[in-house]
Amino acid sequence: MTVSLALALLTLRAGLRLRSARRLGVPRSRDDLRRHLRLAKPAVAMLVLGFAAGPVSAVWLRGWDAFHTAHAWVAAGTLGLFVATAVLGRRLEQGRSRAVDAHAALALVATLAAAAALGTGFVLLP
Ligand code: HEM
Ligand code: HEM
Repeated sequence: MTVSLALALLTLRAGLRLRSARRLGVPRSRDDLRRHLRLAKPAVAMLVLGFAAGPVSAVWLRGWDAFHTAHAWVAAGTLGLFVATAVLGRRLEQGRSRAVDAHAALALVATLAAAAALGTGFVLLP
């Protein structure tokens, strides 16, 4: 989970570089877009896998009931926000949408939610 959150942060950093170039009206570096897309896909895929591993681990390794923690619900919200960011990002990539501001806003809220997931997950560590 730490690795996927780190990848998500690097994705955000590359995305914010694209955003500042767009807002300043200067040409964007093609490398930033390539880097953004290259990081975003594994980051989101790892978040999905990590989310699935959470309840498996909680039940099998800890003997808990699945989804009985606040962390589980914060994590579900976080995952939903990242998936929405990715779906919109994919539409931008394919030229089917121009909603860059919505993509950036979703990305920012998803990152804040991830910080809450980290906080609520940390206290569950053995
Ligand atoms: C599969 C997932 C994703 C895809 C395919 C994707 C795709 C894109 C594309 C194509 C752009 C350039 C938009 C343009 O100016 O034409 C962009 C911008 C951006 N992306 Fe993503 N993205 C994804 C996930 C993410 C994630 C996970 C984050 C952050 C947590 C993020 C944050 C941003 C930001 C901040 C921008 C700048 C938007 C702006 O110019 O205002 N993206 N993304
Ligand atoms: C680095 C940050 C995180 C830490 C330290 C953390 C830690 C934990 C811990 C200790 C557990 C209990 C399971 C066990 O110990 O066997 C857990 C469960 C879980 N985690 Fe995380 N987690 C983090 C981030 C996330 C994120 C970002 C997501 C979702 C995208 C997520 C989804 C889940 C889910 C769904 C469970 C199952 C909880 C339940 O069934 O009640 N976690 N996590």
